[in-house]
Amino acid sequence: MPILEVNNIKKKFDHYNILNGISFSMEEGQAISIIGSSGSGKTTFLRCLNFLERPDEGTIVVKGEKIFDASMPPENPKQLRERRLHFGLVFQQFNLFPQYTALENVILAPRLLKDGRSEQELTDMGMDLLDQMGLADRVNQYPHQLSGGQQQRVAIARALALKPDILCFDEPTSALDPELTGEVLRVIRNLAEKKTTMIIVTHEMAFARDVADEVIFMDKGIILEKGPAEQVINNPKEERTKQFLSNLNN
Ligand SMILES: Nc1ncnc2c1ncn2[C@@H]1O[C@H](COP(=O)(O)OP(=O)(O)OP(=O)(O)O)[C@@H](O)[C@H]1O
Ligand SMILES: [Mg+2]
Repeated sequence: MPILEVNNIKKKFDHYNILNGISFSMEEGQAISIIGSSGSGKTTFLRCLNFLERPDEGTIVVKGEKIFDASMPPENPKQLRERRLHFGLVFQQFNLFPQYTALENVILAPRLLKDGRSEQELTDMGMDLLDQMGLADRVNQYPHQLSGGQQQRVAIARALALKPDILCFDEPTSALDPELTGEVLRVIRNLAEKKTTMIIVTHEMAFARDVADEVIFMDKGIILEKGPAEQVINNPKEERTKQFLSNLNN
């Protein structure tokens, strides 16, 4: 059974069709990269998956359970909170809470969930995740004391702390300079090696090709092309994909 099945997701803003029917499925342990021009709807799609926007049409099925159906009445806040837990989202701007340390940022949400874990267990989990991000020596620092790359790695640990089924990244390195980009990409690469299920919106084509199993090329709110990463990036079928990739290289 696929871990995620997205069926015919459509979204309009002010009468403009932004998503025109997005459908695909992915298996547990897969990493999919989404590429495409500015304005093609990549962020809007991730926001729909994370219930930050409500699609106008379509369904979202996670592990065989329909967690969203646009034809059903709007979800109440409790349902939204529960359903959001299926997805983790790491933004371009790290959005850490400035008044909390790295460790506190990671364990804040799981603590609020009151899922029975003790304070010690939460702390151990937070330390372990930060250690995996290469930040063992930074746990007690505040965001302003950390570089952009370090802050982004805290944000990744924070997303993982809720054990999402699918971890989503929206251009996780586009606010970073090249040196700091490398350290964040390494962390994402490690997650892929550990078979973390991920959807990664990125402008880093070489990274998408090397880390993702499959690449989706989005254009004007549809999936124009989807296939094995190497094939879509190195040998795309669609003219529009070729054009997009060659513009990037010029
Ligand atoms: N809340 C909103 N209200 C109105 N229009 C919106 C809203 N959010 C996004 N849009 C429009 O939807 C379109 C798609 O935007 P989106 O941010 O999803 O593109 P993107 O593929 O992520 O682009 P980029 O590569 O620049 O991040 C754009 O034309 C944008 O102006
Ligand atoms: Mg975007």
